[in-house]
Amino acid sequence: MENKIVVGNMKMNLTLDEVKEYIISLDNYKDCIICPSYIYIPYFIDAGYKVGTQDISEYGIGSYTGEVSVNQILSMGVNYTIVGHSERRENFNESDELVNKKLRMAISNNVKTILCIGETNEERVMGNTKEKIEKQLTLDLQNIEEDYYDNIIIAYEPIWAIGTGKIPSNEDIKEIVSFIKNIIYNKYGFTPIVLYGGSTNEKNILELNKIDIVDGFLVGGACLDPDKFKKIIETIR
Ligand code: PGA
Repeated sequence: MENKIVVGNMKMNLTLDEVKEYIISLDNYKDCIICPSYIYIPYFIDAGYKVGTQDISEYGIGSYTGEVSVNQILSMGVNYTIVGHSERRENFNESDELVNKKLRMAISNNVKTILCIGETNEERVMGNTKEKIEKQLTLDLQNIEEDYYDNIIIAYEPIWAIGTGKIPSNEDIKEIVSFIKNIIYNKYGFTPIVLYGGSTNEKNILELNKIDIVDGFLVGGACLDPDKFKKIIETIR
């Protein structure tokens, strides 16, 4: 992996004026993938960014009020999506079964799909991190077809690290990321791109970037401030 990937997950933030300002400030830093709210996608596409969605429907087309389909995002020039973010699993009761459906819908339409997995603090304290990771990988990647393996990106996001300012040690991240790569290699015969996510910011990126096995970062809070996000992008370039 030569170039590391930086993905900005904007979650449910920014108004239209803020988006317009953001796009101007981030000029020349288009070597990232931005995941804004659906409504702002055209602004980022028109400005030349690579764009992803924060979620995707498990359905292809039809009467599903409020949903957005894979074909719709593709028709907008969007080639990435996040699935299984812990905030969706928690706040919208998304099960592994649903995450698996969404993932298969996206990868089989050649959308690069960032599958988020990670342990809660309780699971970490109990020493159950690997068990949780293995369970999520097994369920979320069920019945995937070989033709689409290349479309899978994994984001290791310890839930206790998301938006908290707490991050695991480099050794711990390395251990889990290699665990993830090994599980997938042993089961499917390919090594996926694996990102780290959880309180990545402009200050800790230098240290985090030393973990060779990590192929990039999924950034939440720090991507909302163009200066902080630029610093992160610069560091991994
Ligand atoms: P954070 O969010 O960087 O604010 O911790 C990461 C994420 O939720 O993807």
